[in-house]
Amino acid sequence: MTPADHGRDWYERAGVRGGPRRLLGDELRDGQLFFPPALVPYLDHPRVRALPGPGREALLARHLYHYLEFTAQFETRVVNRATERIAGGRSGLDLATATRLDAYRIYCDEGYHSLYSLDVVDQVSRASGITPLPYDFRPFLDRLDAVGREALPDEPLLAQLLQVVVFEMLITAILNDVPKDPRVLTLVRDVVRDHARDEGWHHAFFARFFRELWHGLTGPQRGRVARCLPGLIRSSLLPDRAPVRAALAAAGLGPTAVAEVVHDAYPRDRVDRGIRDAARHAVRLFEETGVLDVPGGRRAFETAELLQ
Ligand SMILES: [Fe+2]
Ligand SMILES: [Fe+2]
Repeated sequence: MTPADHGRDWYERAGVRGGPRRLLGDELRDGQLFFPPALVPYLDHPRVRALPGPGREALLARHLYHYLEFTAQFETRVVNRATERIAGGRSGLDLATATRLDAYRIYCDEGYHSLYSLDVVDQVSRASGITPLPYDFRPFLDRLDAVGREALPDEPLLAQLLQVVVFEMLITAILNDVPKDPRVLTLVRDVVRDHARDEGWHHAFFARFFRELWHGLTGPQRGRVARCLPGLIRSSLLPDRAPVRAALAAAGLGPTAVAEVVHDAYPRDRVDRGIRDAARHAVRLFEETGVLDVPGGRRAFETAELLQ
């Protein structure tokens, strides 16, 4: 479906328009899981396996909270920061009104994704008694913004638009795999499925938007953008270890054990493989658009381990 088709359907199909509020119900008593263990790389570590049952359960809950709190912050502070510029006609591109309307639709979607992400944290933490640890999105945002500042020091808006193009093109294991695991709480699977459904058409919108953006760039700008994109991809997907460390410490591990678990759970080659996998559609789009053909383009993607 093209974004233009979607514009007509959005009023019926978008989660924020017609989707129900997802509620926890009483599944916690049945022992349903907070999150798929396969998506929590440190859960099988011997030091974590040695923890008592409730400690490991709290780790799963806090992994879920971190994902949701990250999402709640990211949608409004990164995606909508740039989407609002597109919608408001302040992106620097001469866009059709239909495109701007779609951007406002995405803006509404993302605001709603933030709302239900925090709503799920609230419902699950109240019912389970497992409290969320304080979460600070700022370090992640600072790292992401620093990539753009370094590669495009005079073009902060362009960097912000690229951040969103990159992120909206990523296919994360979470969106794909959480809904499929029947051991996980229905509430969690439902909100992730709802979210993935909306993201399908965002993906199409931003692919088209990037082609337009790229078309309007000068030669030197294209070079800078090509060399910036791999860093944006990596920075978006690198595991955030700080919340993991905090959750492990709260589960009762001492500083040495925490460092050991984090070190063992995120080996470089596995992290690189995960990033490459999640970025494959983004990389294909950039390849098709000619990004890798500008001087230094392919090399930048190779150095970032993004090519198969
Ligand atoms: Fe979203
Ligand atoms: Fe989105």
